[in-house]
Amino acid sequence: MKKIRLGILGFGNVGQGVLALLEKNQDEWKSKTGRDVCVTMIAKRNWSGIEKPANIECVTDSQSIVTCKDIDVVLELIGGTDIAFDLVMAALENGKHVVTANKALIADRGVEIFKKAAEKGLEVSFEASVAGGIPIIKSLKEGLISNEIQSVAGIINGTSNYILTAMRDEGRDFADVLCEAQSLGYAEADPTFDVEGVDAAHKLTILASIAFGIELDFDKLSVEGISSITQQDISYAEQLGYRIKHLGMALRRDNGIEVRVHPTLVPSKALISQVDGVMNAVRIFGNGVGETLFYGAGAGSLPTASSVMADVLGLANSLFANHVSPLGYDRDNENSLSVLPVGSQISANYLRMTVANKPDVIARITRILADKQISIETILQKESQTPNRVTVVIVTRMISESSLQSAIDEIKQLRALSGDIMRIRVENFS
Ligand code: HSE
Repeated sequence: MKKIRLGILGFGNVGQGVLALLEKNQDEWKSKTGRDVCVTMIAKRNWSGIEKPANIECVTDSQSIVTCKDIDVVLELIGGTDIAFDLVMAALENGKHVVTANKALIADRGVEIFKKAAEKGLEVSFEASVAGGIPIIKSLKEGLISNEIQSVAGIINGTSNYILTAMRDEGRDFADVLCEAQSLGYAEADPTFDVEGVDAAHKLTILASIAFGIELDFDKLSVEGISSITQQDISYAEQLGYRIKHLGMALRRDNGIEVRVHPTLVPSKALISQVDGVMNAVRIFGNGVGETLFYGAGAGSLPTASSVMADVLGLANSLFANHVSPLGYDRDNENSLSVLPVGSQISANYLRMTVANKPDVIARITRILADKQISIETILQKESQTPNRVTVVIVTRMISESSLQSAIDEIKQLRALSGDIMRIRVENFS
């Protein structure tokens, strides 16, 4: 099987996430691309105190990666806009495709980078630069390509969202929560980038450019952060039926596009208001599809690596002439899975039944469930409209369909049961 050889610049959170994901999913990637993805070299300025991964050449000199002839794709995971820019340009000059997670680099210097990539006939991909693990760039460029986009509105800075959520739920002050948010490792090297809206503005610059075909121009955005939001504002907003969210918004108007980042009152019942903690969400309104909402982890080692590798695997499929099925898998692969029979599906369940209001009836029902190894999460007994009857509602824990059906069949034999048993599956998304 042919290889795709990666060189990684930077070995922080995201670089380490890429290796962890490779270890988990390498076989999956072979099935999906028909290629063996391998990391050939990693550059980090200072390796002291860091365990060097086995079988990978670990260097301190990034130039040796961008010039290495045995590397197909360079992953820029350093951050910043100076050294990272020089290295990306050098990688392109040396004929390497580039994948980057660097929002500031694309927002500030994307124009120069894309020009160089076009000259060289190379790809630069940057899915991980906006909203971490949410595939929002591919969704805009591919899934929503047939729409004229009317608006983009996103919670795209997890740190700000974390702070606003804790201020609302725990009544704490801004400064107090900021320290905690920093300790979670989501904050930028310079935390003012998070709380003053700069990080969100970098991301919105990229989204707006893709959504509306406008130039990447960070300086044209109006940018406000959350540092002046007080407990009072949060409480008054709640009383008015709103929550305060920090949003990046790009809106099509008759004469152009508004692009702005600021705290915003959004109706408490809106879906985007339910996005709490460090999670991100992007709402896109297209003139065909209407409203869409994309939700997920906006930062973190594995979620960001998920997007970085989506770019790499996308390159593998589009550039290296693979013959993977339109369904995305190599069907002849030995890892092929099959659909499980219905009886072995597993779910939690809600059961509602009406039974005689007599001693021992509930005990008999629960004994039937226990004999089938079905654990009960909750049981309720409610008055029934029929005299001498009660309604019993049971929520089970996860159990196989065959065990549940066999229990239902046995309960149906009880003379105490009136009518049918209502069964609805329960999904807690845990
Ligand atoms: N500082 C960023 C955030 C990290 O809080 O969302 C991901 O870009």
